[in-house]
Amino acid sequence: MNPIAIQTNALSRSFEALKAVDRLSIEVPTGSIFGFLGPNGSGKTTTIRLLLGLLAPTEGSGRVLGHDIRSEADAIRLKSGALLEHNGLYQRLSAENNLDFYGEVWHMPTVERKRRIQELLTHLDLWERRTEIVGRWSRGMQQKLAIARTLLHHPALVFMDEPTAGLDPLAAAALHKDLASLAEKEGVTIFMTTHNLAEAEKLCQQVAVIRKGRLLATGPLEALRAQAGGPRLEVLGRDFTPQALEALQARPEVLDVAQQNNRLLINLRQASDTSSLVGLLIEQGVQVDEVRKGKANLEEVFITLMEEDAEAES
Ligand SMILES: Nc1ncnc2c1ncn2[C@@H]1O[C@H](COP(=O)(O)OP(=O)(O)OP(=O)(O)O)[C@@H](O)[C@H]1O
Ligand SMILES: [Mg+2]
Repeated sequence: MNPIAIQTNALSRSFEALKAVDRLSIEVPTGSIFGFLGPNGSGKTTTIRLLLGLLAPTEGSGRVLGHDIRSEADAIRLKSGALLEHNGLYQRLSAENNLDFYGEVWHMPTVERKRRIQELLTHLDLWERRTEIVGRWSRGMQQKLAIARTLLHHPALVFMDEPTAGLDPLAAAALHKDLASLAEKEGVTIFMTTHNLAEAEKLCQQVAVIRKGRLLATGPLEALRAQAGGPRLEVLGRDFTPQALEALQARPEVLDVAQQNNRLLINLRQASDTSSLVGLLIEQGVQVDEVRKGKANLEEVFITLMEEDAEAES
């Protein structure tokens, strides 16, 4: 098996003067869940359409499951599942008939098709309602059915454009579990976009962050978090006096200190014993309620990347 499921090389797509995707080079390892992150209009959906061969690149190249995105798009689409912004469901057909139709499109043998439809609908808690017309279903129910449609033919690679948008927290958590087990047990590669960074943090081993079509960072989630910020300490409490903050700042291991209401964020030069810092705060009369050690989370990484890039532009 090819260890790299998706590889792009300076992939670009313009719409007249607008560079929607701008010299994007990424690598997605086979069997991983890859989070493709960026603000609205940054080029995520356009990239997925390029990778599926639904849109031609203006420059650059890409390979998906070993196939060239310009000349072998049919082979890519045969081996992939895609959940795009439009769910691709026929509003006037029942849930079961929708899946049946797609199963036929994929040339699934009848017995296997029926078995798989029952398996997926049961799993998604939609089996009892399989004969209902999809057009009357709620958005979240339709989203679940669209996910079933995407997975129907056991694709090796799945593109999911905001798969949990519109799902309730229980349904979203169930989908997270499904996606994780698909990747882990069946080696399915999942390329997903999401605006929910906590979701990306939970699910994705690797991420890429883009802004205005350009890649700002990519790699294992852990590496990105480590890169964005060194060790730090978060103290929740009261009575953070200016003297206490000054005393902290004077310590050699402290890089900087920021206060937001009842929260103190202390960036450290290196991971070190932090109990003496807490002791110092208590000596200064600070009421310490809670102490947390940690690194930057994905949301902070994301916001920092956006701000730095916007600054570099101006
Ligand atoms: N067919 C098109 N014609 C003209 N402009 C387009 C076309 N498709 C996309 N764009 C533009 O390309 C840019 C990127 O759009 P895209 O849909 O890829 O963003 P996105 O990252 O998926 O955003 P969102 O998070 O809002 O879904 C936008 O400025 C959009 O207006
Ligand atoms: Mg989009």
